[in-house]
Amino acid sequence: INIALLAGGVSTEREVSLAGAIGVEKALDSKKFTVKRYDPATDLARLAADASKIDFAFILLHGLYGEDGTMQGFLDLLKIPYQGSGVLGSAVAMDKHLAKELYKLNGLPVADWQIIEAGESVDVERLLSRFGLPVVIKPVREGSSLGLTLATSEKELENGISQAQNHDSIVMIEKYIRGRELTVGVIGNDELTPLPVIEIIPGEEFTFFDYDAKYKAGASKEVCPAEITDELKNRVQEYGVAAHKVLRLRGYSRTDMIVAESGEVFLLETNTIPGMTPTSLLPQAAAEYGLEFPKFLEYLIDLGLE
Ligand code: DAL
Ligand code: MG
Repeated sequence: INIALLAGGVSTEREVSLAGAIGVEKALDSKKFTVKRYDPATDLARLAADASKIDFAFILLHGLYGEDGTMQGFLDLLKIPYQGSGVLGSAVAMDKHLAKELYKLNGLPVADWQIIEAGESVDVERLLSRFGLPVVIKPVREGSSLGLTLATSEKELENGISQAQNHDSIVMIEKYIRGRELTVGVIGNDELTPLPVIEIIPGEEFTFFDYDAKYKAGASKEVCPAEITDELKNRVQEYGVAAHKVLRLRGYSRTDMIVAESGEVFLLETNTIPGMTPTSLLPQAAAEYGLEFPKFLEYLIDLGLE
C-alpha cells in the first residue's frame, strides 16, 4: 500500500505534526506500506500530481489547513482515501464554538461561554460579572492550547483577548472550571469503541494543560487508565462517544473534558487529528486498550479504507 504521510503544514502546530510524523513513519511496517512524505506547506502540487499512485493518505496535520476539513476536501477531490473525519466533521470540530453549540443542543454538558467576533467592542465589566475570575480565553479555531490563557485579573482578561485574537478573529470566553482534566479517545466507524480514559495532571508550575505542559517531556503526568470510579469512567466514555456522533466524526477522535470538584463533567473540545508525538495521549490509550502503536495505525488505515 502506497501511503502519503502528510505532515508539517502551515499551522501553529507544525512542530507537533513533524514530531508525530517521525514516530508514525517508523511504526508503519515497511513490508506492507511504502511511505512518502508530503508537507502541504510546499508539496500540494506534487501530491496532486502523484494522486493516481497513492492508495491512502495519512493526515498528521493539526489545526488550520489540516485538521479543519480543508485537506480532507482536497483529498476527496483527488479521490485519495484518508483516516478519520471528513470535511464537515473536521470543520465543525475545529470550531470550538460550533462544537459547543452542538454538544449543548444534544444535551452534553458544557461550561458557560460566549464569543467575541472580529471588530466587536468588548465590555470587560460585563464579561467579569458573567464569568467571574479566573476566566479562560481561547481562540475558537486553534489547537494544543496555543493562544489560550487563564486570566486572574481584568488586565489579564484584556491582554488574553488580544493574545487570542492573534490566533483567530473569533475568541471564546469560557467559565473556568476547577477540576481534573480527563480525555477519552473513541475509535470505529459504525460501531464506536471508547478507549480507556486518561487523566492529565499538569506539573506544579502549570495551572492547566498549556502548550508547554503538553509537549515538554515530563512537564505533566498522564495516568492511563485514570484512577476514577467506574461510574465516572462510564459517563466520560459515553460523552466521548456522543460527542463523536453529534459532530459527525468518523474513524477516531479524542474529547477533552474537565470533571469539577462537584463531580459534574464538562466537555471542552473534540480533536479529530489527535497528537501522535511520543508524549501524546491517544496512542497511550490505544496501547492500554491492546492496540500497540503500529497496530493502532493499521487499524486507523483499515477504518479509513472501509
Ligand atoms: N491538538 C493536539 C495535537 C492534540 O489535541 O493532541
Ligand atoms: Mg485540540
